[in-house]
Amino acid sequence: MAWKMTQLLLLALVTAAGSAQPRSVRARTGLLNVCMDAKHHKAHPGPEDNLYGQCSPWRKNACCTANTSQELHKDTSRLYNFNWEHCGRMEPACKRHFIQDNCLYECSPNLGPWIRQVNQSWRKERILNVPLCKEDCERWWEDCRTSYTCKSNWQKGWNWTSGINECPAGALCHTFESYFPTPAALCEGLWSHSYKVSDYSRGSGRCIQMWFDSAQGNPNEEVARFYAAAMGGAGSWAACPVLLSLVGMQWYNISSL
Ligand SMILES: *[C@@H]1O[C@H](CO)[C@@H](O)[C@H](O)[C@H]1NC(C)=O
Ligand SMILES: *[C@@H]1O[C@H](CO)[C@@H](O)[C@H](O)[C@H]1NC(C)=O
Ligand SMILES: *[C@@H]1O[C@H](CO)[C@@H](O)[C@H](O)[C@H]1NC(C)=O
Ligand SMILES: *[C@@H]1O[C@H](CO)[C@@H](O)[C@H](O)[C@H]1NC(C)=O
Repeated sequence: MAWKMTQLLLLALVTAAGSAQPRSVRARTGLLNVCMDAKHHKAHPGPEDNLYGQCSPWRKNACCTANTSQELHKDTSRLYNFNWEHCGRMEPACKRHFIQDNCLYECSPNLGPWIRQVNQSWRKERILNVPLCKEDCERWWEDCRTSYTCKSNWQKGWNWTSGINECPAGALCHTFESYFPTPAALCEGLWSHSYKVSDYSRGSGRCIQMWFDSAQGNPNEEVARFYAAAMGGAGSWAACPVLLSLVGMQWYNISSL
């Protein structure tokens, strides 16, 4: 009897999970150690001994390939045809933050708790409100104040006629500081709220670090575990292999009907 009820419960869970997601989306079994389903990400994280330059902290476990890591250091990488220097030269001290932002986005296997489905032609998932450590955001803003841009949201509204983003008509080049008056305006506005500036500091285990020294391991693993546990749901299922395998078994039976 108890077993029967467990089966019914599992059936209900599996049915609910099955109907909540379109079939085209990559099955997401947990929030930990996962890669988002986007343009260049690997299906699963793994070691990448040859990650390039600023992406090298993710060598032990990464969602990006070595090729991707190299490409995203270029001013107008072929990955996105996106030009940071749309208003003339960007200071190198500023540019390194954009490279690091790319590395985190493409390589991190610790963003699972903030992955959301989207309807975009070029990706099925995005990140939303990743709690970026406040120092990482402040430094980014400080180092970019004197560089130039023409927009406060870089995700949409460009003129793509030439194949590379150009400032749209009427968007004038001014300093970063005039388009992004505060650190939060930059880190949160830039990519339509991919990041949210955290009240927590680097090293707290409660915010995601864009920059870290891999000699001490990847500090974002602990952060993802904390938020996955706080969110419950799929994150804690992953911590229960027996339930997960039962669900998997039922799923197989149901889907082969
Ligand atoms: C590396 O990336 C470039 C640009 O996306 C692509 O043209 C090239 O084929 C890739 N090379 C390998 C070995 O994957
Ligand atoms: C995605 O697009 C489909 C149809 O184009 C629509 O039914 C659905 O509500 C959209 N989902 C989101 C999250 O916008
Ligand atoms: C877009 O850019 C092209 C040059 O690449 C220019 O000829 C065209 O006028 C621009 N369109 C708008 C709406 O700004
Ligand atoms: C299907 O479910 C039954 C129990 O209901 C189980 O014994 C069997 O192993 C399952 N088959 C597969 C392929 O998982």
